[in-house]
Amino acid sequence: MLHLHKKLNFCFVILLFVALASVYARKGAEVSFQQNYKVVWGNHHVFFLQHGREVQLSIDKTSGAGFRSKLDYASGFFQMRIKIPNKDSRGVVTAFYLTSRLYEHMGEKHDEIDFEFLGNNGEPHTLQTNIFANDEGGREQRHSLWFDPTIDFHTYGVLWNQHQIVFYVDEIPIRVFKNNSKVGVSYPWQEMHVTGSIWNGEPWASNGKRIDWNQAPFTAHFQGFNIHGCQNQNPSKYLCYSPRLWWNDHKHSELNPQQRKAYQYVTEKHLVYDYCSDRGQLHKECQIN
Ligand SMILES: *[C@@H]1O[C@H](CO)[C@@H](O)[C@H](O)[C@H]1NC(C)=O
Repeated sequence: MLHLHKKLNFCFVILLFVALASVYARKGAEVSFQQNYKVVWGNHHVFFLQHGREVQLSIDKTSGAGFRSKLDYASGFFQMRIKIPNKDSRGVVTAFYLTSRLYEHMGEKHDEIDFEFLGNNGEPHTLQTNIFANDEGGREQRHSLWFDPTIDFHTYGVLWNQHQIVFYVDEIPIRVFKNNSKVGVSYPWQEMHVTGSIWNGEPWASNGKRIDWNQAPFTAHFQGFNIHGCQNQNPSKYLCYSPRLWWNDHKHSELNPQQRKAYQYVTEKHLVYDYCSDRGQLHKECQIN
């Protein structure tokens, strides 16, 4: 009896050890904001929580705020956990994106891969995605989310390799943009940095309505500052296309059957706007398939 008791005790200790080890492994993988990112505007509207493992950006009448990665990347899998403002935040845009330039120069020929929350009032929350490929973009898609993004953190991710760009929401691929450069479709190729921001999107993000500043400040929370990306070391950019980087390997050259199913489901049920249905004649990729 005593013997069995000892055995059970031993098992328990082992289990506890395994559980703790996995917790530490997860925590250990979390890096602080400062390691990979820096604030680029609205310093007074940035607050650090959880020892720098969470960042709160806020916007009021005087300013919004934004941060960017210290380095630029030429391929990778970029993701962040985000919780958007829990108020009627029409006109306030919370964004997570990759861009080849600083925001001052947007609108010129640049590359960009965007997630944007167009804080709308009362309606199901809409997530807009867009892609700029050496141009002005205009490739908006909008999805109605199947959860309330103001209540909990959710993970928003972008895979960018030589074969495809995939937008993920909590592991579910919601959008795929193939590298069809062989048939003349432009594809993001410039080195990009990772950015998070909250800004005044009036009037385009609010359908012409005004931001209700009585509800300010509006705050968005960001977590997960690890970056899985290939730092662009000119002139050997092609190193960033090496299949030895896990996000470039064969597995990530297209969706697997399970992902394709999830993607089809989300497209059917949650895609509420697609530029191809609207301005498809302006974009070559809309004429493929
Ligand atoms: C897109 O694909 C072509 C091959 O079809 C390749 O040469 C090119 O490097 C790819 N572009 C990027 C940015 O990965």
